[in-house]
Amino acid sequence: MSRLIVKANDLIAHNTYKMLLKDALPHLPGQFVEIKVNDTMTPFLRRPFSVADYENGILSIVYKVIGVGTQILSMIKPGSSLDVIEQLGNGFNLNINDKKVTLIGGGCGCAPLLYLAKELRRIEKTVTLVMGFSSKEDCFFIDDFYSLGETIVTTDDGTLGIKGNVVTMMNNPIIDYYYAVGPIAMLKTITILSKRGQISLEERMGCGFGACMGCSILTHQGPKRVCVEGPVFKSEDLVW
Ligand SMILES: Cc1cc2nc3c(=O)[nH]c(=O)nc-3n(C[C@H](O)[C@H](O)[C@H](O)COP(=O)(O)OP(=O)(O)OC[C@H]3O[C@@H](n4cnc5c(N)ncnc54)[C@H](O)[C@@H]3O)c2cc1C
Ligand code: FES
Repeated sequence: MSRLIVKANDLIAHNTYKMLLKDALPHLPGQFVEIKVNDTMTPFLRRPFSVADYENGILSIVYKVIGVGTQILSMIKPGSSLDVIEQLGNGFNLNINDKKVTLIGGGCGCAPLLYLAKELRRIEKTVTLVMGFSSKEDCFFIDDFYSLGETIVTTDDGTLGIKGNVVTMMNNPIIDYYYAVGPIAMLKTITILSKRGQISLEERMGCGFGACMGCSILTHQGPKRVCVEGPVFKSEDLVW
C-alpha cells in the first residue's frame, strides 16, 4: 500500500478524467491499481483502475465518472494524497512471435492500450490501433494513438471516424494477433471471432488482491481470479 500524491486530475473527455500520481512503483502494461477514494469508511471498497501510462514514477489512470467512487475521485485536487495498492494483476504478455499486432479498445478500455502501444513500439512491434467510443465527445488520447501507429477510430453515432463499433472492424484482414480491453459484450464477440489474442477483463471486484474470490471467472483451466491470475487472459482460455 502506498500514499501517492496527485499531480493532476483533469477532465479530458465527457465525464472522463485523467489522473497523474507521483512517486509510483514501476508498472507493466495491463496491470491495475486499487484506489481508496477517500479516508472514510464510505465507500468501503477500493476502486480498480488500469494503468494508462507509466513513466519515471508518474502513473496515469483514465476514469469515467459512473458512481459514487469515481464522483469523489473527480473532485480530488492536485497536491492531495491517495491510498493506493499498486502493481496488481499480471499485465499483458508482450513476448509473442507476431511482429504486427492490433490493439482494440472500447471506451475507457482504450486507456491501458496507450501504455501497451508504447511498450510494444519500444520492442519494435508494428502496432495498429482500433479505438471505439460512443461519440466524439467521449474520445481521448486520439493524437497519442495516431503517433504510435495506424489508427482507426469508431464512434457509435459516427461523430468521429467510422460509424459503428470496433467489433465490425474484426473482419478487417489487418487484425491477426490482438490485445483487447473494453465492455464485456465487445470482448466476448471478439473472442468468438478470433482466439488469437489477449483480453483484459475489467469486471467488478471486491478486495482486488485475491482474498474474496468475488472476481472469479471460469476458464478452460478451471476458475481463476481476475485480480490475481488476470486481468489479462488468453482469449482461447476463456469460457463465457
Ligand atoms: C481491473 C479493472 C480495471 C479497470 N480499469 C478502469 C479504467 O481504467 N477506467 C475506468 O473508468 N474504469 C475502470 N474500471 C472500472 C472501475 O473500477 C469502475 O468504473 C469503478 O470502480 C466504479 O466505481 P464507482 O464507485 O464510481 O461506481 P459504483 O457506484 O461502484 O457503480 C456504479 C454503476 O456502475 C456499475 N459498475 C461498477 N463497476 C463496474 C465495472 N467494472 N464494469 C461494469 N459496470 C460497473 C455498477 O454496477 C453500478 O451500476 C476497471 C475495473 C477493473 C476491475
Ligand atoms: S476481487 Fe477479491 S479475489 Fe479478486
